[in-house]
Amino acid sequence: MMQRRDFVRLLVAAGLLPIAKTTKAAAPPPKSDPRDWRWVRAQFEVPADEAYFNTGTLGSRPRQVSEAVANHMREIEQTIAHFDYRPEHPEYLAGYGKQEELRAKIAPLFNAKAREIALTQNATMGTNFIANGLDLHAGDEVLMTDQEHIGNKGPWELREKREGIVVRKLPIGTPPSDPESVVRIFTDAISPRTRVIDVPHITSKLGIVMPVAQICAAARPRNIFTLVDGAQVIGQLRIDVKSIGCDAYTTSPHKWLLAPVGNGLLYVSDDRLRDVWATLASGNWNNYDPADGAFRLMQFGTANLSLLVGLGAAVDFYNSIGPQRIEQRVMELSNRLRNGLNSIDRARIASPTHPAMTCGIVTWGIDGVPGPRLMDELWSRRKIRVRSVDEHVVRQSSHFYNTAEEIDATLEIARGLTRNA
Ligand SMILES: Cc1ncc(COP(=O)(O)O)c(C=O)c1O
Repeated sequence: MMQRRDFVRLLVAAGLLPIAKTTKAAAPPPKSDPRDWRWVRAQFEVPADEAYFNTGTLGSRPRQVSEAVANHMREIEQTIAHFDYRPEHPEYLAGYGKQEELRAKIAPLFNAKAREIALTQNATMGTNFIANGLDLHAGDEVLMTDQEHIGNKGPWELREKREGIVVRKLPIGTPPSDPESVVRIFTDAISPRTRVIDVPHITSKLGIVMPVAQICAAARPRNIFTLVDGAQVIGQLRIDVKSIGCDAYTTSPHKWLLAPVGNGLLYVSDDRLRDVWATLASGNWNNYDPADGAFRLMQFGTANLSLLVGLGAAVDFYNSIGPQRIEQRVMELSNRLRNGLNSIDRARIASPTHPAMTCGIVTWGIDGVPGPRLMDELWSRRKIRVRSVDEHVVRQSSHFYNTAEEIDATLEIARGLTRNA
């Protein structure tokens, strides 16, 4: 018989009770205050003299998140023999469960219902689930931009090659001058064969904030399925899928939400879920119970429950700081960078300048300085980590753990390079 103590440990291990109740959590630092950006920065293990500006590739996780994952993994190892597979006990080892509590915690970040959220492994997996799950035929068109991340275009290109659907990549400008021109490009391109529009909410390389709500509004009366690729959005800017009006939204919380790598989120609206077949099938591939919603799209076999516990901890951390404050800080820091670069003669911003299209990602370069060299100079002079995204420019992703001093140091180095280049 399972003892109550063992059962509580199982609940903890399954992420259904807070770990702190049974583990020796590290004592909180004396001035624990999520409103204090210095305290917030101190929660990250990136050394204090290093400035991490590559959140667009992968966020840095706060201690709270990595400890939640590590503690949970240890709990599993210690209690693995206790689980008896009785149906009345919570799913423990394998991650086959519905994860209703976690999905309910995540849903408000989308302004969605818990059942509309599927836990995947990254944004690419979500796009694949939509691209493969829809009934499409040779000649059916999918519209996207000419600036998609490989993870958002690959799934459609595969169907194009295999089944003859048509993928149209619309040139939107590098960068576009204003949102209206982008909306026009999409509305003009819609044809009677258009079945799907899949657009990024924020593009990967230039950080263009796309007018997704207007594009979805043009698609809806024509019954065109809309997927928004929000890999760069969750944890950076607030998301409201209902006001965007998209049918599906895929995202990677290991970037700006600072969740453990290996977590993804896919929203599919209640009224479109029946149109999406499961791609990866296990026991519930054919579960069309409306109460279970997108659980049908979580059928990929054994999963890592510890990563899901870490995802929950990342949502808690994000909420403790506050979505609006985070968004404001991201914009303050990136505006400081944009303004500073604008005042440097030979610095060039490749990202949009239209205020409705800007975000925490600023892609920039210096005439005469190759992108990889600029990246190396920033690192070797002041340990500032940006990412060179082509031979001319670097992408600098400012998140709330960055500081005004780090931005100013970036600008100082840029000024020095323009003098010496
Ligand atoms: C806009 C966009 N879409 C999709 C992806 C793919 O994300 P993942 O590799 O986490 O699936 C990325 C990754 O950088 C991205 O920037």
